[in-house]
Amino acid sequence: PTIFVITPTYARLVQKAELTRMSQTFLHVPRLHWILVEDSPHKTPLVTDLLMKSGLTYTHLHMPTAKDRKLQEGDPSWLKPRGVEQRNEGLRWLREDRRAQPGGDNQQGVVYFADDDNTYSLQLFEEMRSTQRVSVWPVGLVGGMKYERPVVEGGKVVRFHTGWRPSRPFPIDMAGFAVSLKLVLANPEACFDGEAPMGLLESSFLQGLVTMDELEPKADNCTKVLVWHTRTEKPKMKREEALQAQGLGSDPAVEV
Ligand code: UGA
Ligand code: MN
Repeated sequence: PTIFVITPTYARLVQKAELTRMSQTFLHVPRLHWILVEDSPHKTPLVTDLLMKSGLTYTHLHMPTAKDRKLQEGDPSWLKPRGVEQRNEGLRWLREDRRAQPGGDNQQGVVYFADDDNTYSLQLFEEMRSTQRVSVWPVGLVGGMKYERPVVEGGKVVRFHTGWRPSRPFPIDMAGFAVSLKLVLANPEACFDGEAPMGLLESSFLQGLVTMDELEPKADNCTKVLVWHTRTEKPKMKREEALQAQGLGSDPAVEV
């Protein structure tokens, strides 16, 4: 089955670096279709060009985050969920596009939501490829922990190892699960709820799709970390700004 990877992305200094790293990981993954959704009122030339030259199978979409939902400068990052409208737009496109294909709702495929700043092992994609409904695995460096993971007993997920609100319906980071395309197509209303309280974004999607009992543990019964919730430091521009003030800033024609 093809793996459909839905990625929200937004313009910032490190965007091209993030997307370059990500696209070059994906080049090593067979049968991967990248659905990249820009948080922007239009497709940007930077992303358009990067995708065109990437060598990947891809779909380029855009969907701006509503202004009242967008984090403002100075807001703490946990205040509002990020990437919501973009993931939902990716789902909308996928459902519409797949319906038009031969086979309709009965198609092999796996859907994975991959943020543009995480670090992905190639092994992760082979693990998720056999997803029947919803598969799960550990995520490293997340939630103020070395890792979070589903705890597996007798081949079933019985609880979650997490440092925060383990009673959430699905205390799993976005990077820690994949869903079969069939399940996505069979549940046309399933999407991410931007109004979901903090920590419940993933649950807002998974609730109604699956029960804990049905989760399929991957990565050696959830004992291996194959994806890391890395976050990229915001580059300091102190020198750049000082030089700009003297008319000696970096050439804006050079794409970074
Ligand atoms: C954590 C989770 O890992 C995310 O999956 C979840 O969406 C997020 O929290 C949340 O609370 O909403 P975190 O590293 O804090 O992730 O979030 P980011 O990596 O900054 O953003 C998640 C994705 O949304 C990224 O792919 C990013 O490019 C995108 N994004 C972020 C936008 O499209 N627009 C924005 O304004 C900000
Ligand atoms: Mn992130």
